[in-house]
Amino acid sequence: MKRLVSVLVALVAMALLIWIGVGVNNSSKDMSVIEAIEARRSVRAYKDRPVEREKLQLLAECGVKAPSAMNNQEWEIRIVDSKKWIDECTATYLKAVEGSGKANYMLTPTFKNIFRNAPAVIFVAAPEGEYSDVNVGLLGENIMLAATELGLGTCCLGSVLFMFAEPGMEKYAASLGFSEGYNMRYAIAVGYPDESPEAKPRDLGKIKFVEE
Ligand SMILES: Cc1cc2nc3c(=O)[nH]c(=O)nc-3n(C[C@H](O)[C@H](O)[C@H](O)COP(=O)(O)O)c2cc1C
Repeated sequence: MKRLVSVLVALVAMALLIWIGVGVNNSSKDMSVIEAIEARRSVRAYKDRPVEREKLQLLAECGVKAPSAMNNQEWEIRIVDSKKWIDECTATYLKAVEGSGKANYMLTPTFKNIFRNAPAVIFVAAPEGEYSDVNVGLLGENIMLAATELGLGTCCLGSVLFMFAEPGMEKYAASLGFSEGYNMRYAIAVGYPDESPEAKPRDLGKIKFVEE
């Protein structure tokens, strides 16, 4: 009887530890790549919870494990998780476009910053080149799928290209410190999601088998 009680206590303790572990990581340990593809959405509302640096580092490492033409790895990643940087950059952009209506689409009642309200942003740059767009595209999807597995939301942001062209934004672009010849291509907003958007429809008619 004593032994049975000890076994039961051990089992309950194990179950508790597993439950706490999953809760803390906020991730699904059992998520397959296909499940991550199905679950990923562009997220534009995030909790005020910072993203752990180890997780941001892991996302970037998953990014650079993407294939690249002749393994040229012609990409650079800069991770910003400073609220001060993000807030000041946001204020500079909003001031630059004040009265133009350019920022209206993102100024929702829950607006926090120009990076779709995320607490962290991953910027990606590459030199111009034949396969450059393909390389950075593959890198970005790796990052977004890995983030999905970790319970993080993401949103690919092409808008950084025109936002960083506004007056006053050069300072923030320069502070990213990309190498000579490398141009910013896009950014990825990252954070703990505060919304669960429905899947956007996809046109499966784009897929065709070619018969003989
Ligand atoms: C190259 C690229 C640029 C994008 N730029 C933006 C952007 O600037 N702002 C934004 O909110 N979403 C942006 N998105 C996200 C798309 O709007 C989104 O992927 C699309 O609507 C499909 O929705 P889903 O990601 O939830 O499946 C971009 C996506 C890609 C691939």
